[in-house]
Amino acid sequence: MASRPTSTEPTLVQTWRAARPPVAGVHLDSAACSRQSLAAIEAAAAHARHEAEVGGYVAAEAAAPVLDAGRAAVGALTGFALTDVNFTTGSNHALDILLGDWRGERTLACLPGEYGPNLLIMARHGFDVRALPVDGSGRLDVGAVAAALAADPPALVHLTTLGSHKGIVQPAAALGAVCRAAGLPLVVDAAQAFAHVDCADVGADAMYSSSRKWTAGPRGLGWLAARPGLLSEGVLARMAHAEVNVAAQVGLSIALGEHVEAGPAHVRARLAEVGATTRVALSDVAGWQVVEPIEEPSAITTLIPPDGVDPQAVRARLIAEHRIVTTYAGVERAPKEMTGPALRVSPHVDVTTDDLEVFAAALTALS
Ligand SMILES: Cc1ncc(COP(=O)(O)O)c(C=O)c1O
Repeated sequence: MASRPTSTEPTLVQTWRAARPPVAGVHLDSAACSRQSLAAIEAAAAHARHEAEVGGYVAAEAAAPVLDAGRAAVGALTGFALTDVNFTTGSNHALDILLGDWRGERTLACLPGEYGPNLLIMARHGFDVRALPVDGSGRLDVGAVAAALAADPPALVHLTTLGSHKGIVQPAAALGAVCRAAGLPLVVDAAQAFAHVDCADVGADAMYSSSRKWTAGPRGLGWLAARPGLLSEGVLARMAHAEVNVAAQVGLSIALGEHVEAGPAHVRARLAEVGATTRVALSDVAGWQVVEPIEEPSAITTLIPPDGVDPQAVRARLIAEHRIVTTYAGVERAPKEMTGPALRVSPHVDVTTDDLEVFAAALTALS
């Protein structure tokens, strides 16, 4: 195998890697937290310095156009207006705001593989949850969903386009069309999907994501886009006046600008290629089983351990002994679908076949 990345857009790979500090080891963990660019880090630091020079509120006024550009980028990539996009502290924060503010009946339909912490937020806000129909791999059954929703209509539909526990891309646009035809509001968790798979043509009533994952922005941030009227005036006013880390929001806006400049379609194509390359490289390494079909268009690969191997211990030893960062995915990530823990591998666009070979050799050694 060649050691250079096989890319549909070679300059994307080179630009992405050159924009960041050198990696210490092998980073295969963008579904948890990507590596920020130097420009995003330095813009956040420069804003913090400016706060010390002129005062935090004066600096915030000066940064408003940068934050607007960030919100406009989110809007353009999701089909919302700039004014529909609000920064949050993350995806769970966004769902908490949305469900806490929900003024309709508290019934909701979502996938059986719904993200565990989302299920907890739904329960805490008193939502009665029913399952959308899926096939054997946990993918939405588009042919059956309209009838299922008509038989027992929920007040809202929630879709996690790409889960935390598995790199299966859900047919969000098809569900959007079904929900529109049925007159049901659709809320989309794009924590893993944004800046990774296409989110522009879903036609959701609300969508949210996190900064630190595929966008490669700072930690502790996310956004919530909602069509006018979905959120109450009180909640919108609260968000507008909440104390926030403006420096981090500046960093996120820079990361969003870099994503737009790289070409979202190029990033998507490269991440799909990364997923396929990863799955081929890891198919049947020391008895670990790849969950996703090779050609699934996402860069998330999940590995089921061989009998007797603990993926949590393997993850820790990969870091300690090989400086390779992956994620341990326990069943709490998708408690209604996962039957055992897994190891998640989620490289960004710059992964090389050398990186994957080093990982495969380490996995063999630790199994
Ligand atoms: C699918 C999904 N939804 C929601 C979240 C929660 O995101 P945050 O930590 O920004 O609240 C995650 C985080 O991993 C996720 O993968």
